[in-house]
Amino acid sequence: MTTLTIASLDPFDESAMAAWHATYNAAASYQRSYAAPRALEEMRTQLQMENPGERLLGFTGVSGDRVVVTGTLSLSLKDNLEQAWLEVHTLPELRRNGHGSAMLSHLTAEAQAHGRCLLVTEVAYPYDARVDGSGHPDVEFLRNRGFELGIADVQRVLDLPADEALLEHLIAAAEPMHRDYEFRQFRGRVPEDIVETYGELVGSLLTESPMGDMEFEVQVMDRERIRAEEKISEASGRTKYTTVALADDGTAAAYTELVVARHTPEWAFQWGTLVRPDHRGHRLGVALKARNLLWLQRECSRPRLVRTYNAEVNTHMVAVNERMGFRPVERLGEFQRRVEPGW
Ligand SMILES: CC(C)(COP(=O)(O)OP(=O)(O)OC[C@H]1O[C@@H](n2cnc3c(N)ncnc32)[C@H](O)[C@@H]1OP(=O)(O)O)[C@@H](O)C(=O)NCCC(=O)NCCS
Repeated sequence: MTTLTIASLDPFDESAMAAWHATYNAAASYQRSYAAPRALEEMRTQLQMENPGERLLGFTGVSGDRVVVTGTLSLSLKDNLEQAWLEVHTLPELRRNGHGSAMLSHLTAEAQAHGRCLLVTEVAYPYDARVDGSGHPDVEFLRNRGFELGIADVQRVLDLPADEALLEHLIAAAEPMHRDYEFRQFRGRVPEDIVETYGELVGSLLTESPMGDMEFEVQVMDRERIRAEEKISEASGRTKYTTVALADDGTAAAYTELVVARHTPEWAFQWGTLVRPDHRGHRLGVALKARNLLWLQRECSRPRLVRTYNAEVNTHMVAVNERMGFRPVERLGEFQRRVEPGW
């Protein structure tokens, strides 16, 4: 068998980056109708630019003269300091040769060397597979290497253009329940006057939404990080559409975000949606999502599909999505594994 050589990816090396991406893209799209691999330009920018909140590293596994396996490691720098988020992708035609395991061991050692002891990853599998994914090759890969399912999610999609009359009806029906809130919408940068309250709300998404056994901490989304991530987003071609509900004391009570990416313009991505626990019960969730989608659709005609992920157990958010017309297409398992830190 040819030996595998694993090395760090230099995102400034154009041909190395293109070869890395071709393998990642082929692996991430294999046998999936609703895969959404990040575009080369987007990935390159994210790997090249400094982010005070997160360090993103790429790795390449070469056998002969081919990149047969890729890896990424993401290290949160302001919070969740135990964690390392990782991804492994092997060319479909070269699977079951030990390449994925070798990359996973390499990423594990890197994570340990950075003092991380909680490895986190995710894997997609068909909607008609078992909820926990057992039996699917990629899930078995993780389970056989010490990972456990933390939470099972479902990807739902909505074909665009969405039914505007339905969205307007949802907005109007919910309105009497939240007359005391002010809605603000912004494309791109968060307005300076709400950056702190918005950051606090967004930072609590991982702890305030259902996360099963996943061990997430509150994220520190301070002004420095928000502004840095906005620059990276802009440079990588992403545009974020946000709708926020402000309580009468100016606090951000709820938000929702949709993202369109210049390099994959046919898709819009639903990012976070959160209503703070003390502001629930006012139909802010449905109102925000319907308002944001209506706005995006009127501003930007290129996306043909919106994608959203929800925990299987997040019945409230799933009900909101289904009312808007989303349909389930694929499952996603979030997995984790504890290891010894390496220092
Ligand atoms: C998961 C993935 C990285 C594995 O890559 P690989 O190079 O085939 O990995 P290895 O050869 O080291 O290990 C494959 C393991 O997967 C599991 N596996 C694969 N096919 C399987 C099947 N049909 N039934 C049961 N287990 C299976 C086994 O544990 C197998 O190990 P074995 O061959 O020693 O039995 C690859 O399939 C891939 O790129 N998938 C898409 C991305 C992804 O889901 N990544 C995982 C999350 S990071």
